[in-house]
Amino acid sequence: MKKSQRKVAIVTDDPGWHGRQLTRSLKDHGLESQYVSLSDCIIEINGTGKEIFIPGFNTPPLGIFVRGVPGGTLEQVIFRLNILHALYNSGITVYNTPKAIERTVDKALTSLLLSRAGIPTPTTWICETPEHAKIILDKETANGKQIVLKPLFGSQGVGIHLLDNKSGLILDEKFAGVYYLQRFIERLNNEYTDIRVLVVDGVAKAAMLRRGKEWLTNCAQGASCESLILDKNIASLAESACKILNIDYAGVDLIQDKTGCFYIIEVNSIPAWYGLQSVVDYEIASCLIDSFVKHIARINQLSFF
Ligand SMILES: Nc1ncnc2c1ncn2[C@@H]1O[C@H](COP(=O)(O)OP(=O)(O)O)[C@@H](O)[C@H]1O
Ligand SMILES: [Mg+2]
Repeated sequence: MKKSQRKVAIVTDDPGWHGRQLTRSLKDHGLESQYVSLSDCIIEINGTGKEIFIPGFNTPPLGIFVRGVPGGTLEQVIFRLNILHALYNSGITVYNTPKAIERTVDKALTSLLLSRAGIPTPTTWICETPEHAKIILDKETANGKQIVLKPLFGSQGVGIHLLDNKSGLILDEKFAGVYYLQRFIERLNNEYTDIRVLVVDGVAKAAMLRRGKEWLTNCAQGASCESLILDKNIASLAESACKILNIDYAGVDLIQDKTGCFYIIEVNSIPAWYGLQSVVDYEIASCLIDSFVKHIARINQLSFF
């Protein structure tokens, strides 16, 4: 790659506030950037080695910051991830890596990997048939308890349901034929709070308490953000989760049960930080771009950063 190529791609279909924050931080590092939609990229297999065409880039980008991979058909999602894999395999810094994005966008795989590593995560069942899902639901909700049903690839609390033995199972296309059922964690005093921790390069950098009016505590669902001093236990749980998932940076969601135990419920490889930014006194975009740029420099052995 030419040393003079200083333009990076921000992969997103919806730049908004986060895109602007990244653009500004990149500029502070003397780097030009351009938004790129993966659906506008082309793979050309012609034996010359120049396979991926990214609009606006005549030479490969210096690095790729993945800010969004839009949903679509299975074929579209695989095509988009293949573009990221191909770019990564050709030696370009892709942040987060496509492997890490795959491990975390799929809630089942995340839960499996966390649990296997001994990291506390709620008991979870994943199955395809409504018959199996109903058996799990009936058993789990028999004594008046509730169970959470989530879309496998969901985010921001969209499409998540709390089920009990009266509501029964929800048969909806948005679950795409897979049921991800999870034991409902009852919180102390029935307070609707959870914790978001930002981990960058293995280190927990910031945390916030999210407080909802209802049980869903995503900022996108109207929860408020409160600053939270990171304690060692929370930091170390979030850091362990990122280590197991081998992810460069992430927004880790933790929930505390009635007895005080913490569980990791999710690791976000493309986290929003609008809410977290409102409770910390340094620029999160700049912290992410510092790390991104270090990764680029390491891969390219460049010294100009
Ligand atoms: N097992 C659970 N028990 C209680 N509340 C949960 C559980 N799982 C998720 N929640 C609530 O739902 C929110 C969204 O869940 P999460 O798994 O993070 O999905 P999303 O990707 O949509 O953010 C959490 O922030 C939390 O408030
Ligand atoms: Mg979440």
